[in-house]
Amino acid sequence: MNLKASNISFSYNNKRQILKDISLSLDSNKVIGLIGDSGSGKSTLCKIMAGYITNYSGEVTLDGNKIPDKDFYPVQLIFQHPEKTMNPKWKMEKVLKESWEPPQDLKDTFGLKENWLTRWPNELSGGELQRFSILRSLNPKTKFIIADEISTMLDALTQVQIWEALLKHAKANNIGILAVSHDLELLEVICDDILYFNEINGV
Ligand SMILES: Nc1ncnc2c1ncn2[C@@H]1O[C@H](COP(=O)(O)OP(=O)(O)O)[C@@H](O)[C@H]1O
Ligand SMILES: [Mg+2]
Repeated sequence: MNLKASNISFSYNNKRQILKDISLSLDSNKVIGLIGDSGSGKSTLCKIMAGYITNYSGEVTLDGNKIPDKDFYPVQLIFQHPEKTMNPKWKMEKVLKESWEPPQDLKDTFGLKENWLTRWPNELSGGELQRFSILRSLNPKTKFIIADEISTMLDALTQVQIWEALLKHAKANNIGILAVSHDLELLEVICDDILYFNEINGV
């Protein structure tokens, strides 16, 4: 499958344009990196591609078609701060099941411990929460993952474990990934190709 952003332009208000005429194309089974300065608009582009922001100009298409936003959205965004995306009043079991019920072997791949399931979000570390956040995004209907600085706040070992698990699942299931990071070393290891945000943004 192919996820394409064509001529995307956007501003939060009319004063300052954040994105201008951005085009990029992702393919299933490929990991494309996106690197750029803080505050330059990378997360904004991620939100547009994953359907969170809709009042942009340009087009986002999946195999040439507009993405319907009813039902499950096939482009899933994973954020830097997993705790912000979870209901603090839900136990982890419910947080996970909100999207789907991953098989045991996939939970094992992500190193999910059984006793984490009965805890509240604030009883887990950032790395543990991020494992849930990623697993949640891997619903079988997911075709593309937009990973926005997903391992930035994690220690080196956790970062490797999480990326290994995600890459393994994505390759086996033909899922395409856009990996956004300011860590060029990381992107060089995990990506098939790297895009430089200031080169694709016409602002
Ligand atoms: N909801 C918002 N309303 C207004 N401005 C915003 C909003 N979100 C982000 N911005 C601004 O848009 C610019 C780009 O932000 P962002 O896309 O988060 O950049 P990056 O991810 O590259 O650090 C920043 O100047 C930021 O302050
Ligand atoms: Mg960002």
